[in-house]
Amino acid sequence: MKHLLSIADLTRDSAVELLDEAERFEQALLGREVHKLPTLRGRTVMTVFFENSTRTRVSFEVAGKWMSADVINVSASSSSVSKGESLRDTAMTLRAAGADALIVRHPASGAAHQIASWTGGQNDGGPAIINAGDGTHEHPTQALLDALTLRQRLGDIEGKRIAIVGDILHSRVARSNALLLSLLGAEVVLVAPPTLLPVGASSWPVTVAHSFDAELPGLDAVLMLRVQAERMNGGFFPSQREYSITYGLSEKRLALLPEHAVVLHPGPMLRGMEIASAVADSPRAAVLQQVTNGVHMRMAVLFRLLVGAEEVAG
Ligand code: CP
Repeated sequence: MKHLLSIADLTRDSAVELLDEAERFEQALLGREVHKLPTLRGRTVMTVFFENSTRTRVSFEVAGKWMSADVINVSASSSSVSKGESLRDTAMTLRAAGADALIVRHPASGAAHQIASWTGGQNDGGPAIINAGDGTHEHPTQALLDALTLRQRLGDIEGKRIAIVGDILHSRVARSNALLLSLLGAEVVLVAPPTLLPVGASSWPVTVAHSFDAELPGLDAVLMLRVQAERMNGGFFPSQREYSITYGLSEKRLALLPEHAVVLHPGPMLRGMEIASAVADSPRAAVLQQVTNGVHMRMAVLFRLLVGAEEVAG
């Protein structure tokens, strides 16, 4: 694996190996006062974010630092992008400055693929490109950390019925999760109003439902999505109130889920919109476990791309 641009870059075996690797990193750090492994000493990891982020950017930075990499954060607003420099020139500049890995978030779907085609593979001295969210397309490390959380909470993902609920249309998390969870053997159902489903969802390995209440008793897990008003150009249908009443995860709906079912949300959460505060803070929700797993999963991805590749290459 040279880059991680999409869940399509993974086989079932390589996805499971990443989940196992993340748990090995968790175990390696358990009980240590100092969170420092020598794994990536001498490597340079750069995060390049053209959209805001808390969880993804911070967890990649922590992951890199815990593995002793030199980590450099580039934000579009404080870089020469604000002077009009192109995406290609920015990427090639960071390659020339010595990046071994470029972690990219960009509002355009396909941006990470495009950068990888410009900077070349590691065999040509190019950096490993990791897609940290491209427009409404994919967010593969989010799906991997969600799968890790589900595996820890449910024991196994194979055969579990998992609903992805809400604004599927604008969600890169939904697509990556639908692809990864079905690759791992789950039965995935998208639950959303017709107006918030992408046209192409019929080609995803999922079923589609519009009634959240009808689905609840048969689910092992619910993955709630943030309503992405910033991608809606001012239009929102159904109204926010209707949406919250029909698709919000209230305490009443939580009670309709089986006892063992777990609630995930990738964050940031809009409390009172797609998820009630009491649900988000309940032991049934794994929101902070997802964040912790995000660090271990990103350690695993960086390790696989920067060290694993070298081992394979001999
Ligand atoms: N889940 C997620 O991508 O969160 P951030 O936007 O804070 O990185």
